[in-house]
Amino acid sequence: MSLILAIESSCDEMAMAILKDEREFLSSVVASQIDVHAMYGGVVPEIASRKHVECVSLVLKETLNKANVTIDEIDAIAVTKGPGLVGSLHIGLQAAKTIAMAYHKPLIGVHHIAGHIYANNYVQNIIYPSLCLVVSGGHSELVLLKAPFKFEVIGQTLDDAVGEAYDKVGRVLNLPYPGGPIIDKMAAKGNHTYNLPVPLDDESYNFSFSGLKSAVINYLHNNEQAGKEINRADVAASFQKAVVNALVREAVAAMKETGYKKIVLAGGVSANKTLQNTLAEAMQKIGAELVHPTPILCTDNAVMIACRGYFMYQAGMRSTLELNAVPSLNLG
Ligand code: KG4
Ligand code: ZN
Repeated sequence: MSLILAIESSCDEMAMAILKDEREFLSSVVASQIDVHAMYGGVVPEIASRKHVECVSLVLKETLNKANVTIDEIDAIAVTKGPGLVGSLHIGLQAAKTIAMAYHKPLIGVHHIAGHIYANNYVQNIIYPSLCLVVSGGHSELVLLKAPFKFEVIGQTLDDAVGEAYDKVGRVLNLPYPGGPIIDKMAAKGNHTYNLPVPLDDESYNFSFSGLKSAVINYLHNNEQAGKEINRADVAASFQKAVVNALVREAVAAMKETGYKKIVLAGGVSANKTLQNTLAEAMQKIGAELVHPTPILCTDNAVMIACRGYFMYQAGMRSTLELNAVPSLNLG
């Protein structure tokens, strides 16, 4: 039996969880700062790290209490080492290193995106090889999962990440931060009536969402200046359709080329039902299968860091107390 305490603080959430063995999570606490950052229309890094300092001890206490375990009973501490906001990462890392040193526990530095990918392992065992479509606020990538510790990034965004594009479009639609989940709901009530540019369609597996985002922003500004009414739900539906089509197109191409039969989704935007349904349908057509994380494990949380940490722990992977934050850590 093993108990992993995981800490995730790469952005605006201070999250901790305790995982028993491979799948049983005993507690999961996420202290969100969305309300604070919503006032500024996005995450303010300086505020995020200050808020993390304020709540780190409380989140630890609550995580242990909910799981009804003591630190002594924990077998290892898994912590996000990057990528993310350097100040935010530091707070989680300092907490993890302090516990590891004071209680003589092994420390395991986890890649944030590997954590998002391993949120799928909570649903079912990840099959190797599989393809992963990473769609978060900071990343849009296609990754070959060749083996548990052999990932290869074959495509990525050249500009905005997909969640970032959602949030920026949300801002011009006057939606509170983060706009992604709200655009998702609005799109369900609208129709795809606006012809927006098709995001990058070339020979690579790369993505580009900034042209699409700018087209939406220009469209809204032009109509506003001309005093014309716009149907915001239709704009949301048209934008979402263009994004989802581009993601699915690249994923299908990569699945056909590799001949893989499983694809997993990872990152906050994997909560998007249109993306889930469209991708699942496209996979079915080519004889492949989609797995996506359960809704609460799509956006940032510590269960996913524990899920990845568990495998690293079992494989004997350990970090030293020199472990440092790496804001732009590569996955490959
Ligand atoms: O993975 P995540 O929690 O944080 C990062 O690692 O970046 O992703 C957050 C992103 C935000 O941009 C948010 O707007 C987006 O995920 N998001 C969604 C949905 N739920 C969250 N975007 C579209 N549809 C959703 N349902
Ligand atoms: Zn994330």
